Amino acid sequence: MTLYSKIIGTGSYLPEKRVTNQELTEQLAAKGIETSDEWIVSRSGISARHYAEPEQKSSDLAVHAARRALDMAGLQPDDIDLIVVASSTPDFFGSFPSTACIVQRKLGMSNNCAAVDVQAVCSGFVYAVATADSFIKSGAHKKVLVIGAEVFSRILNFDDRGTCVLFGDGAGAIILGASAEPGILATKLHADGRHADILSVPGSVAGGAVAGSAFLYMDGPAVFKLAVSVLEKVAHEALEQAGMSADQLDWLIPHQANIRIMNSTAKKLGLPLEKMVVTVDQHGNTSAASIPLALDIAVRDGRIKKGDNVMMEGVGGGFTWGAVLVRM
Ligand code: UT7
Repeated sequence: MTLYSKIIGTGSYLPEKRVTNQELTEQLAAKGIETSDEWIVSRSGISARHYAEPEQKSSDLAVHAARRALDMAGLQPDDIDLIVVASSTPDFFGSFPSTACIVQRKLGMSNNCAAVDVQAVCSGFVYAVATADSFIKSGAHKKVLVIGAEVFSRILNFDDRGTCVLFGDGAGAIILGASAEPGILATKLHADGRHADILSVPGSVAGGAVAGSAFLYMDGPAVFKLAVSVLEKVAHEALEQAGMSADQLDWLIPHQANIRIMNSTAKKLGLPLEKMVVTVDQHGNTSAASIPLALDIAVRDGRIKKGDNVMMEGVGGGFTWGAVLVRM
């Protein structure tokens, strides 16, 4: 029997603190940094974002999202036999112990299930889903909790107006269950490390201090140019793998970084904009959390229904990109 992975629950969480463009503009103006609601909306489509409280870590956001996904699936934490967390802002500097292990602890799990972090920046969720799908198809795991969780506000340089207005915090989760019917129809992942420098946190730890910078750096126009070209290509690759065409898609959920990139991707795929789930306006760019957040919102408001074909696409630092085509 062919084994597939099926999404049996979704959940998401946004920290309470919501900051509008107007509020951010005023905060930046007080430091002598000029920006405007008009610039942010017209260049990115973002109107507001959420920021975690100082004591909230990625794992805290992740646990809220995970509990909601578990509830939807009708499962208890100990029913899960693998946790995969995608995050570029893990709980611990140095990335260990993994945020997945902390999530396991905070969910009160006692089943010693496997737990691992996946790092592919804004493509992280797509990479994590593809990883979980492989584990399920191999027969090694049956119920996998896949999470994208970020506290990007921690790595933003609020003196850099080109980046600090774009990102926000949040988490999204899905439960993948082994199933006799699809499920995930295709996954396609790519990376090109030659572009590592255009989006990075160019620092490392040496002798107990940060060598370099602990802030996010982005060459926006270079990332923009690459993103629009790879997102169309990888969607076609995933469709081809599944033997499907773009007109069979019910929903497109691209990484929510910039509405101009998203609109261009939908247009190139020949999809009407109504078939695209958009949360970037309210969440900003939440990196690995953006796709599962958007998915959960569209599932819970009834737009995405059982049987719908959904294309999820990520692109980000590394440079990385990928697509997951799923039947709900
Ligand atoms: O999540 C991973 C993937 N990330 C992305 O996909 C992001 C990709 N890149 C982008 O979304 C866009 O490149 C940005 C939104 C980051 C920037 O938009 P852009 O149209 O590429 O603007 P730009 O960086 O070329 O800057 C245009 C102008 C510059 O001024 P000059 O040199 O033309 O005088 C900037 O200094 O806008 C200026 N600028 C701002 N002005 C007001 C940059 N940031 C701001 C700001 N407010 N916040």
